[in-house]
Amino acid sequence: MNTVTAESHVTIQPSILYFGTPVVLLSTENPDGTFNLAPMSSAWALGNVIVLGLGADGQSAQNLMSRPDVAINLPAPHQWEAVERLAPLTGRHPVPASKPAGCHYEPDKFGAAGLRPEPSEAVRPPRVAECPIQFEARAERVTLDVSGSFVIAEAVVERVHADPRIVVPGTQYVDPGAWSPLIYNFRHYFGLGAELGHSYRSQTPR
Ligand SMILES: Cc1cc2nc3c(=O)[nH]c(=O)nc-3n(C[C@H](O)[C@H](O)[C@H](O)COP(=O)(O)O)c2cc1C
Repeated sequence: MNTVTAESHVTIQPSILYFGTPVVLLSTENPDGTFNLAPMSSAWALGNVIVLGLGADGQSAQNLMSRPDVAINLPAPHQWEAVERLAPLTGRHPVPASKPAGCHYEPDKFGAAGLRPEPSEAVRPPRVAECPIQFEARAERVTLDVSGSFVIAEAVVERVHADPRIVVPGTQYVDPGAWSPLIYNFRHYFGLGAELGHSYRSQTPR
């Protein structure tokens, strides 16, 4: 039974708390030197560090614990179906019992998604050619979270690649009007709506 609070909110027990964060595609190196690709959305930036939250039972987490190089690729909203093709796949064999029903092993995630690997410059895993923003990074600290079920990887970004169509011409700035992340909102995919305004710190006011 839901509890109605004084503010007329209801107290609920949702099974997930994924309140709408951008999707990234993580490219990491497998033990045999091949590359894994996995969608995730528990990712955010702290200066030049991207903090990544990953299930400890997944291949991506296993890879980052041993091989810190990572390419962090940001798909655009229209690429959601390629992302979803990766959703039931793991690069881990055998598939751990803790993975959701229907999850199966796939060694060629780029092929399964229909995405093209593009060599990175500073790290070993390839970038996703179709993604408009790509970060080459190194996971310099990988720790277990408080539950023990997830790892938190702090990836220091060494190089940023951007599609020129989303860069303000002649500058180093991403054009927020030209770029939209793909948002994972309680397991549904969205793009951004129209701009509402900008921060007082924006370098790209329009
Ligand atoms: C849009 C989307 C977002 C996801 N976000 C995360 C996440 O933030 N962390 C995570 O561990 N798994 C996340 N997953 C689930 C992983 O992609 C899934 O567990 C996958 O099997 C991991 O692959 P791997 O075992 O090869 O690393 C997400 C899946 C989708 C489709």
